[in-house]
Amino acid sequence: MDYLYLLATLLFVVGIKNLTSVKTCQRGNKISEIAMLLAVVTVLAATGNISWWALIGGLLVGGGVGVWVAVKTPTTQMPEMVAALNGLGGAASAFVALAAILEHPVMHQADKCLADTGLVNAISTPITILIGLVTLTGSFIAFFKLGGKKLSHPLKGTARHYLHAAIAVGIIGCSYWQVIATSAAGLTTATILLSVLALVLGVFLVMPIGGADMPVVVSLLNSYSGMAGSASGFVIGNPMLVVVGALVGTSGIILTQIMCKAMNRSLGNVLLGGMGEESVAKDAKDYKSIKSTTPEEVAMLLDGAASVIMVPGYGLAVAQAQHTIRELGELLIKRGANVRYAIHPVAGRMPGHMNVLLAESDVPYDQLWEMDRINSDFKNTDVVIIVGANDVVNPAAREATGPIAGMPILDVDHARTVVVIKRSLAPGYAGIKNPLFERDNCLMVFLDAKEALEGMVKEVKELGK
Ligand code: TAP
Repeated sequence: MDYLYLLATLLFVVGIKNLTSVKTCQRGNKISEIAMLLAVVTVLAATGNISWWALIGGLLVGGGVGVWVAVKTPTTQMPEMVAALNGLGGAASAFVALAAILEHPVMHQADKCLADTGLVNAISTPITILIGLVTLTGSFIAFFKLGGKKLSHPLKGTARHYLHAAIAVGIIGCSYWQVIATSAAGLTTATILLSVLALVLGVFLVMPIGGADMPVVVSLLNSYSGMAGSASGFVIGNPMLVVVGALVGTSGIILTQIMCKAMNRSLGNVLLGGMGEESVAKDAKDYKSIKSTTPEEVAMLLDGAASVIMVPGYGLAVAQAQHTIRELGELLIKRGANVRYAIHPVAGRMPGHMNVLLAESDVPYDQLWEMDRINSDFKNTDVVIIVGANDVVNPAAREATGPIAGMPILDVDHARTVVVIKRSLAPGYAGIKNPLFERDNCLMVFLDAKEALEGMVKEVKELGK
């Protein structure tokens, strides 16, 4: 069994490594799927008291539901699906710990437990229940927020913090009680109270966070689900769960950190609020010299361009214009232009949002260039077309102060001509003015992204006749 555990762990590590690049991520997914199948079968077989029929039946039912959900869910609802799966992962770990207590309450009583299985087992049981159930309810609040539901916390300001602190104190008390309980009744009561408080805490922690910050919260909850899995491994003494849970937990934390860094915000700032749809600067729409243009004029500009960089942002997803941008790119390539797509790590509203959109419309991977790789090329580029992006191209980030100060941006303003497609002068997610729009080399197309790109496609085709 140990060799199979080791093999599954190695496959997980190789799978995760492959997930770090667009080119290899599909392979990474497949390797991780094989690792998961091997891990599930090995862990269940190792318990010794499960029939092969139950194991195969469970895999078929679970796998069938998974395939059905994956096929039915449109790409636009991927963040919701990830949130729901995180929640179920947390719940599964909590159920492992709850089942361990219900099945062998005596084993988990303090004197027995501490003597027979040690302190680690005793502590990991309340930890698993706490993290698992916080992940469950927190993820479902995130699920509804991502779906556009407005859910706000019943309390504001300090009162809210007092409530959370009181719940935290209750949780610490119940966890301690669970560890030191010497009777089955005491253990059961402590467990029920701890579970209820953890479920309530998950709801209250995620409720006050803005909908646009949910991707960061979801990646943090993903990490929590891994930690709960790892802790549940200690509860039932299974090394596979410990290792794989730790892998999920740490990769979730790393992703959360990457996103916070790319948004130039601390995790505390995201969790306690401070930026988002609610906060819009007073001068956010205060522009003086704006030059607006039409898709026809942009098409003429593109006619003479040897190098073009497209910069997709949140507006591309809103307009569902991913197929039209690919069509325009293909037309320009046929006319001899060098066309690339510049991808900012937090463009859009979920990790890899632009990669998912452009992959859906079959834009070849080698045309997708990450920010660090393409930034030095903007100065040699004839035309940059920004499609529904704002904060990720805002030169205000280069200033010493302001909400996005220090946030890495795409250096689009270094190109010869910059075309910005957006519907109005409304600010982006950070709620601030974008001085790019006033630059001499910037032209604005005030249209829905799909409509503007369709207009350009039509005109470029006309020019080709
Ligand atoms: P934003 O700065 O939010 O700007 C999007 C722009 O798209 C808006 O200015 C909007 O202007 C335009 N737009 C919306 N619908 C449109 C449509 N149908 N057609 C054309 N334009 C449309 O987006 P970004 O540049 O992609 O930056 C992402 C922001 O989200 C960053 O601040 C980032 O920190 C934050 N964020 C990202 C993530 C992840 S993981 N990606 C997570 C949380 C927060 P109009 O209304 O005028 O059209």
